[in-house]
Amino acid sequence: MLIHKPADVLPSEITPRSLFERRRDFLARSGAGLVAGAALWHGLPGAARASTRLQSVPSALSTTEPLTERDAVTTYNNFYEFGTDKADPARNAHKMAVRPWTVNVEGLVGKPRRFDIDELLRLAPLEERIYRLRCVEAWSMVVPWVGFPLAALLKEVEPLGSAKYVEFVTHYDPKIMIRDVIDWPYTEGLRLDEAMHPLTLLAVGVYGEVLPNQNGAPLRLVVPWKYGFKSAKSIVTIRLTEKEPATAWNKFAPQEYGFYSNVNPQVRHPRWTQATERRIGELRKRPTQMFNGYADQVASLYQGMDLKKFY
Ligand code: MTE
Repeated sequence: MLIHKPADVLPSEITPRSLFERRRDFLARSGAGLVAGAALWHGLPGAARASTRLQSVPSALSTTEPLTERDAVTTYNNFYEFGTDKADPARNAHKMAVRPWTVNVEGLVGKPRRFDIDELLRLAPLEERIYRLRCVEAWSMVVPWVGFPLAALLKEVEPLGSAKYVEFVTHYDPKIMIRDVIDWPYTEGLRLDEAMHPLTLLAVGVYGEVLPNQNGAPLRLVVPWKYGFKSAKSIVTIRLTEKEPATAWNKFAPQEYGFYSNVNPQVRHPRWTQATERRIGELRKRPTQMFNGYADQVASLYQGMDLKKFY
């Protein structure tokens, strides 16, 4: 069994105490709404991130369920830009160059910024977050991501009062990616309060190492209470908007993929049930939980909404 308990973490993976304490302070603030103008980002020496191994601290927000095998997480993928078969991304995604890479954070913000990915890796307080990932295709995994709260990044750019949504635009290069299936680039979106929620993660690694390309290197979103397709891979732009952004799968088949896409066993996909799922590595089906088991943390975001209508 591969449960990554705090006691299993190698000392070399643990951040020096002084940095850890500053990061803890950072994290405490990042869960508490918008903190305008606060200098929240603290650097780590570049050498600390020189290898493919990432330093991170274990997160209290992790599930203790057994991890899905690493091989499955890195070879059974959806990354349609590299092919529609589950094995295609692991075969083809190496064609994508992930350096140099910049992420623009723009739109309705006080301080738009263009981050070099290595600058982000030095600055961001990395945690290991073990999350359930529930795909709309009714399979699920338990994945040890390494990343930082999206809220921390958004606070750096100071969202304006008029910002209501966050749009994510991903890398698209027709020379190495497929041209049909959906309208590229792949885009996704969240309401600002969903984006600011402490569970919403920007991942840069998995299994303690930098993300393999097929998992969305160098930066991908992870929203554990929503179907997996919300978790956009290989992000290049994060844009704050007033209007709900168009999203790739919603444009493709609006009756099948809504903007919210919260995991909900009571709302069928038009072509199959969402009441059960098969965890990769298991044969049996298990019941799907409301909000993928994160209801205690996120149900309040949707109070008073008809989740059959806003699916
Ligand atoms: N991001 C991009 N750019 N392209 C995609 O095809 N697929 C989504 C999501 N992010 C996708 C994407 C879907 S359907 C799922 S289930 C998850 O990525 C899968 O993430 P994983 O391969 O790391 O498990």
